[in-house]
Amino acid sequence: MTGQQTHRGTIHLEDAEIIAHTAHPGEQFVLTVRAPECARTATAGSFAHIRCDADIPMRRPLSIMAADPVSGHVEFLYKIVGRGLQALSRQPAGARLSILGPIGNGFQTTADKPRKLMVGGGVGVPPMLFLAAQLAAGDALDKQDSLVLMGSEVPVPFPVQASALAANGLDAGATHGLSELEDLGMPSRLASLQGYPGVYKGYVTELARQWLATLSTAQRAATEMFACGPEPMLAAAAQVAREFNVDCQLCLEEFMACAVGGCAGCTVPVYGPEGTAMKRVCVDGPVFAAEAIYPPD
Ligand SMILES: Cc1cc2nc3c(=O)[nH]c(=O)nc-3n(C[C@H](O)[C@H](O)[C@H](O)COP(=O)(O)OP(=O)(O)OC[C@H]3O[C@@H](n4cnc5c(N)ncnc54)[C@H](O)[C@@H]3O)c2cc1C
Ligand code: FES
Repeated sequence: MTGQQTHRGTIHLEDAEIIAHTAHPGEQFVLTVRAPECARTATAGSFAHIRCDADIPMRRPLSIMAADPVSGHVEFLYKIVGRGLQALSRQPAGARLSILGPIGNGFQTTADKPRKLMVGGGVGVPPMLFLAAQLAAGDALDKQDSLVLMGSEVPVPFPVQASALAANGLDAGATHGLSELEDLGMPSRLASLQGYPGVYKGYVTELARQWLATLSTAQRAATEMFACGPEPMLAAAAQVAREFNVDCQLCLEEFMACAVGGCAGCTVPVYGPEGTAMKRVCVDGPVFAAEAIYPPD
């Protein structure tokens, strides 16, 4: 393989150097690689398909958590499930990884809906952090009226602090957020069933419901919601969005093989006005409208 090739014009194959690779509690790892082509066009919700080890031909998809077109750095957060990510976790800084990306259609934001509610669960948190950073860097967003909610059953691998930024209507136990988002002026809160201090004890979608319940009809019309996480969390997020009549997009993390549209190994039923169509999560998604995945009964 040469250092760099282009696929489909937008998906790049890069021989990426590992810049940093840190282990965190709960078998979580934060990986930073230098992949300039991927960094240049990655958007929140897109992902990269990574060869974890020379002996494991099947790549593993990871959502892009941050991308810096200037340094060419791309960041990921992952939690070991099986053999592939276990092998990836052993790759040291300085090693090189074959990275295919960015892949997929990311979140679409709407200018006339300046309130954004971002809900991430477990390894669904990374795309929400990317989206929050993208939105915070723009000028179309009233940050104080937006909120990032994150659920995790292991400690989040980032600095956390008592938030000075208001998030109305939330349970009194939800006091802490991520320092990185606090620095961006973006309110955030955490949820977990584990009873961590400053963290709401319950499901992250319950916090979403509490926050949306404080908004007037006009405020809800100016709100859009984004969610990524395990399937039950996505179903709950879609239900909450429907309850409050708020537009919602979901990022699916379906099991994948090729990740470039060739094998149909990732198809899901997508519902629309003209009926149901099978769509490939890798290239038709991974972001879909919530009602297309969970249609009303
Ligand atoms: C678009 C996308 C983005 C993702 N982003 C992240 C991320 O940012 N961080 C992260 O940690 N993970 C992410 N994932 C999930 C991750 O790619 C899988 O969990 C991965 O297969 C784990 O690899 P492994 O080698 O650890 O386990 P594997 O050996 O691949 O998996 C162990 C078993 O789990 C099952 N399995 C694995 N993944 C899935 C799945 N997604 N759905 C259903 N069953 C599954 C398989 O049946 C497999 O036998 C993402 C997945 C997708 C599709
Ligand atoms: S994983 Fe092959 S088509 Fe999506």
